[in-house]
Amino acid sequence: MMSSLAFDEVPPPADKVAEPAPLPDGREVRPIPRISIQAFCETQPFADTLAAAAADRRMSRAHVKVHMGGLAAATEFYAAAPTPNLILVESSLPRERLVVELERLAAVCDAGTKVVVVGVTNDVELYRDLHRRGVSEYLVGPVGVLNIIATVADLYSNPKSEPLGRTVAFVGGKGGVGSSTLSHSVAFALSKSLGGDVVLADLDLAFGTAGLDFNQDPAQGIAEAIHSPDRLDETFLDRLLSRCSEHLSLLAAPATLDRTFDFGEAAIEPVIDIAQANVPMVVLDLPHIWSGWMKRTLTGADEIVLTVEPDLANLRNAKNLLDLLKQARQNDAAPHLVINRVGVPKRPEIKVEEFVKALGVEPLAVIPFDAALFGTAANNGQVVAEVDGKSAAAAAFDKIARAVSGRSDVRRVRRQGLGSVLARLRGRKTA
Ligand SMILES: Nc1ncnc2c1ncn2[C@@H]1O[C@H](COP(=O)(O)OP(=O)(O)O)[C@@H](O)[C@H]1O
Ligand SMILES: [Mg+2]
Repeated sequence: MMSSLAFDEVPPPADKVAEPAPLPDGREVRPIPRISIQAFCETQPFADTLAAAAADRRMSRAHVKVHMGGLAAATEFYAAAPTPNLILVESSLPRERLVVELERLAAVCDAGTKVVVVGVTNDVELYRDLHRRGVSEYLVGPVGVLNIIATVADLYSNPKSEPLGRTVAFVGGKGGVGSSTLSHSVAFALSKSLGGDVVLADLDLAFGTAGLDFNQDPAQGIAEAIHSPDRLDETFLDRLLSRCSEHLSLLAAPATLDRTFDFGEAAIEPVIDIAQANVPMVVLDLPHIWSGWMKRTLTGADEIVLTVEPDLANLRNAKNLLDLLKQARQNDAAPHLVINRVGVPKRPEIKVEEFVKALGVEPLAVIPFDAALFGTAANNGQVVAEVDGKSAAAAAFDKIARAVSGRSDVRRVRRQGLGSVLARLRGRKTA
């Protein structure tokens, strides 16, 4: 379910929303759990910022309601209504009045409700005073979209269950463009360079080739994970993973046709959550379909790699995907574009420069068509780098791996000594 956003006023057009600023410390902003949040704004810009925050993928699980009227409206409202998990109030009141009004609000708050105040006075004493009185956080406005999300995330992130990992979704502009091949090769490259574990999830359930590419034929895999959300924990996940190399594990697709895979929109989410909570990097090989769960998985990923071939249908589809993702992910960078299979003999192609110009996005990598190299890898059950580590394609995969790895995160994970959770789990089982 998307966040239920209720407005007292009509949401503003996207271009009116305050420019999303990245956090100054470059910190990753984590998703927010399924909490209820109600905000009481004094100004339209703050209401607009909250609307933009509520529309962000990181808030898609939270229930957000935005009211106008500031602190006074909040106190009046909760005199008659139960309070949510979190109340955000914007207030321009001077220090003494603010403290008095917050006391009045506190008197009508249920136990367990947290309050975040966005004020106008930059004053350490006030900050400390409010903390003492139970206000969880005091921010001096104006605050940016990601700042709001980060503040809420900090209040509700449980250090034990905080997701460690990033998700990288691979999607193609058409079927057969090499999106899966790329995702497998990039997962391989990541597992070599990251120093932490990588899980590759093959979401092309009926036809996926990750098992073939890594020479694995496990009896269980991602389908069991999706079909048993109640049993899903680290131990169960660990049993479903097939190990390809020291740091690379695969959640293989069944690749059989004895059942169909018409999932609900959120069916994949628990699998991604548990994988993400346990490994630093989760690579999602998405099929070329457009279903509810596919769209949700794609729009919810930390990073996206869009692979295309230089032809007209890819151009149109890539444009549509980029437009959709720009709309759905207003506080995220655009997907990484990879132009693959360039220069198929005798094939008329759109020139790369023209393709790029028409799309308006610079490619992260342009990979030549190389039937011998890719064909050999596929037939041997290997990835390209294992066949020829010095090829242009292998260099491109390393480059893509670097781009999606968010290295500062990896360092953070290492510092916490959580680099190889899967290895630890395995150690426990054999011990
Ligand atoms: N640069 C390339 N040169 C030659 N063949 C390639 C290249 N990239 C991918 N292929 C081949 O293209 C085919 C389709 O790739 P696949 O990854 O299954 O596409 P998708 O997942 O986009 O449907 C595979 O046989 C793969 O080996
Ligand atoms: Mg594929």
